[in-house]
Amino acid sequence: MIDDKALLGHWHVVGLSSDLVDEPLQVELMGEKVVLWRPNGRQDTEIQAFRDLCIHRGTALSLGKIEDGCLVCPYHGWRYDTSGQCVHIPAQGDQQNIPEKARATSYTATERYNLIWLSLDTPQHDIPNYPEFEEAGFKTITCGPYSIDAQAPRVIENFLDVSHLMWVHEGLLGVPSHAVIPEYHVHEQNNKLVTDTIRIFQPDPDGRGKVVNNDYIYSVLSPMTAHF
Ligand code: FES
Repeated sequence: MIDDKALLGHWHVVGLSSDLVDEPLQVELMGEKVVLWRPNGRQDTEIQAFRDLCIHRGTALSLGKIEDGCLVCPYHGWRYDTSGQCVHIPAQGDQQNIPEKARATSYTATERYNLIWLSLDTPQHDIPNYPEFEEAGFKTITCGPYSIDAQAPRVIENFLDVSHLMWVHEGLLGVPSHAVIPEYHVHEQNNKLVTDTIRIFQPDPDGRGKVVNNDYIYSVLSPMTAHF
């Protein structure tokens, strides 16, 4: 696992809520494989998250199944409850003698904005706030997820980088003849970083063929979560 204290206590999006229904689901965050599961299937609003590793012989728990509110390992049938504790070892029959250390490593997962958020440590921050999600006049359109062969900080860096628009997206989001970026500053506001308004000349930003001067305001809500 990537042991970066600046990231471990943050919430990170690892999937769509609709990805997780009746079967356990493996996701990977910062090099850590995690199994997500809903103890009572698709109607369950409480998501459990464990390291995707059975403490017995190291099988991926995501290959198992959910039964009676427990996650069942596919190899020897050990059952883990929502606390991560192993509560049943089939090979022991009626003489269940389960050691305390027979437990899965638990993480914290929750849902918001139809997304699954995961934290690999005790969350030190709130889930990033997107007030538009519940605001009248706004409509939520889910795009992706997209698989990108890049580290997450590079993706955020690219998202915030206005000076590439006129080169990489020439003719749509910018043109080289308007490459100069007006001076702007970044401010700290309510635990987020927010830019001044940045005006960008754009020949056809949304496919209507209309030239506009768009005003961009970017915010960074957490190290890997941005908004504009
Ligand atoms: Fe999971 Fe044996 S490896 S029960």
